Amino acid sequence: MDLQGKTALVTGAASGIGRAVALLYGQHGAKVMVSDIDEEQGRQVVAELQATGAEARFYKADVGDPAQCHQLVQETVAAFGTLDVACNNAGITGELSLTADYSLEGWQKIINVNLNSVFFCLKYELEVMLKQGHGSIINMSSILGQVGTPTLAGYVTAKHGVVGLTQTAAQEYAAQGIRINAVGPGYIDTPLLGAFSAETKAGLVALHPIGRLGTSEEVAELVIWLSSEKASFVTGSYYPVDGGYLAR
Ligand SMILES: NC(=O)c1ccc[n+]([C@@H]2O[C@H](COP(=O)([O-])OP(=O)(O)OC[C@H]3O[C@@H](n4cnc5c(N)ncnc54)[C@H](O)[C@@H]3O)[C@@H](O)[C@H]2O)c1
Repeated sequence: MDLQGKTALVTGAASGIGRAVALLYGQHGAKVMVSDIDEEQGRQVVAELQATGAEARFYKADVGDPAQCHQLVQETVAAFGTLDVACNNAGITGELSLTADYSLEGWQKIINVNLNSVFFCLKYELEVMLKQGHGSIINMSSILGQVGTPTLAGYVTAKHGVVGLTQTAAQEYAAQGIRINAVGPGYIDTPLLGAFSAETKAGLVALHPIGRLGTSEEVAELVIWLSSEKASFVTGSYYPVDGGYLAR
């Protein structure tokens, strides 16, 4: 999975899956733009990358703000000269409520952070990749981009939207050398699951035939493959990495 000399951008890279993706990009030879709203943890990831000899920078961007997404892409190109690979990963759990009780503010927030953000990043990444004539983009969806689950209407809607956006943009730009895919993790043991009680987390294990939650590194391996030329005929696809969750 040679990403030697390529530039990779990861949003939400200060923690969990994004951090694992950023570190693995670095291991595979990419120059990495680490972006997050959490500057302290983000800079920590940059230090970890640099300690392994990888080139890395941090840029603070809130993906819910289109201007900051635009700036992030511009800063990446200014720092490294190209943008070859992007993983649009930042996300939150959002409100946990039944649909009739879901607050309007909560709805707008989750759609903005988990769905609008992917459109904003994609739009500006495509601008650069179209000029280059190549690129690979991975959008972080979820198993909840394929099925619903109670109390997560906003999250489920956003993650389904990410899949539809991926399928549409992939068709639009396939002939111009840009591949766009979505990844659907099952429940992964990251700080994101802090929204759930220990009891709920234990119950989530039972939903995965493999009998445990996934790790961020297991998701990162799939992202790296999709990013690389090994996946040269793969575009517009949704790939679960879910311990069998969707097979039930
Ligand atoms: N953990 C899971 O079980 C799971 C399952 C399926 C999909 N996902 C998805 O994977 C992605 C990463 O989740 P994770 O589990 O690593 O979570 P995490 O909480 O460990 O990391 C998410 C990162 O995103 C950052 N972030 C949040 N809002 C942001 C914003 N507005 N702008 C920029 N950065 C922001 C956070 O600061 C954090 O560093 C999310 O899109 C999530 O929906 C997670």
